[in-house]
Amino acid sequence: MTAELPVFEPVTKEEASRIGTAPVPAGPYYQSDYFDAECEAVFRRSWLNVGHTCELPEPGDYIVRELEVANASLLITRNRDGLLKAFHNACTHRGTQLVSEPCGRRQVFSCPYHMWTFNSDGELRNAPDFDQFYVDKAELNLKPVAVDSCGGMLFINLNPNPAQSLRDYLGPLADQLETLPSARATTFSEYVYEIDANWKLTYDNFQENYHLRFIHPKTGAATSGKDNPFGYPLRYGFHDPHRTQTIWSNPQPQIQPFQMLAFGKGMQFAMQDGLVGSEQSKEYYAVFPNLFILGSPMQPFSHTVYPISATKSRGVIRIYWVGEDDCASRRFAREYAMGLARDIHSEDRAVIEAGQRGLNSGALTHIHFQAQEVLCRHLFNMVDERVQAYRAERQTGGAQ
Ligand code: FES
Ligand SMILES: [Fe+2]
Repeated sequence: MTAELPVFEPVTKEEASRIGTAPVPAGPYYQSDYFDAECEAVFRRSWLNVGHTCELPEPGDYIVRELEVANASLLITRNRDGLLKAFHNACTHRGTQLVSEPCGRRQVFSCPYHMWTFNSDGELRNAPDFDQFYVDKAELNLKPVAVDSCGGMLFINLNPNPAQSLRDYLGPLADQLETLPSARATTFSEYVYEIDANWKLTYDNFQENYHLRFIHPKTGAATSGKDNPFGYPLRYGFHDPHRTQTIWSNPQPQIQPFQMLAFGKGMQFAMQDGLVGSEQSKEYYAVFPNLFILGSPMQPFSHTVYPISATKSRGVIRIYWVGEDDCASRRFAREYAMGLARDIHSEDRAVIEAGQRGLNSGALTHIHFQAQEVLCRHLFNMVDERVQAYRAERQTGGAQ
């Protein structure tokens, strides 16, 4: 079969031996003690995607994000100087959540309980009858969280003094994210779903093509076909802890007439918006731990999988656009793109949950990844390295 696929560069022997070929333990995909360690070792120490900068374009804009994996609610603001700031959404008096709306625009945030008021820099500006307290006002600013953006994607780090800047963390991916259509987006379509499955199991579904011909016999026709029945990508890239793949396109996909119409319109608008021509149009960027982005100008797409528990997650799928949908054709092209994404996703969802139910039984001690599931294995390795290091720290008393 390899001989029929001259364009495909398989995983090299060196990569396979570096990344491994052995069965992978099943416990990390359902056990709550492993999940608790991941929360500390991965999610409290990594830069995490929480949105896009187009959600808060003007000074005074804010968004609130719930991160169940850290029991945290975050308030992200754009201050008077236009700089991004992020805080725990917890009043420093007695902890009340300060903001209940998911987004908005204002210069000050007043706690509903006793009316302490903070500005968009997180500073406590006013607190009624403050003379009766036993603490200095300057010590009562909102608790900060690190925030930064790259290519329009908004990231936070729960460590207010992260070990690496966002750019250092992203490594070679940083420059590439800035050239993607999503970097220029001013708006997006969004689809949020909850799923009864571990975050890695959910995420893995979207980083292997092995299932395409079985789960997506029609909708997967663009990325697999008789020349490449298992949809092998053209190449993989490993940029620890991140990874990439270059997706293969079927030169003769079977496209229905109405799909031609939607794709034609989508292409026309993508060209008008200057989004076509990127070398990265077929690139898939997996940003550790839980974000991936597709560079396609027709469907500049991101998917972030937020852990809720060991066996429950929430996915946020977005397709990014430049400008408003100012005519019926543009509206149609955008609705169609998101409709197609939802269609494909609905085919994935049941099989991901069925996989979780099988694992939850504890019947399997190990699972198996083949060569073309190397991105799944790489994610497991990156997570497990951090979990084992964290557990070793705990044993030597280095972590609290
Ligand atoms: S808890 Fe916020 S002002 Fe009292
Ligand atoms: Fe799928």
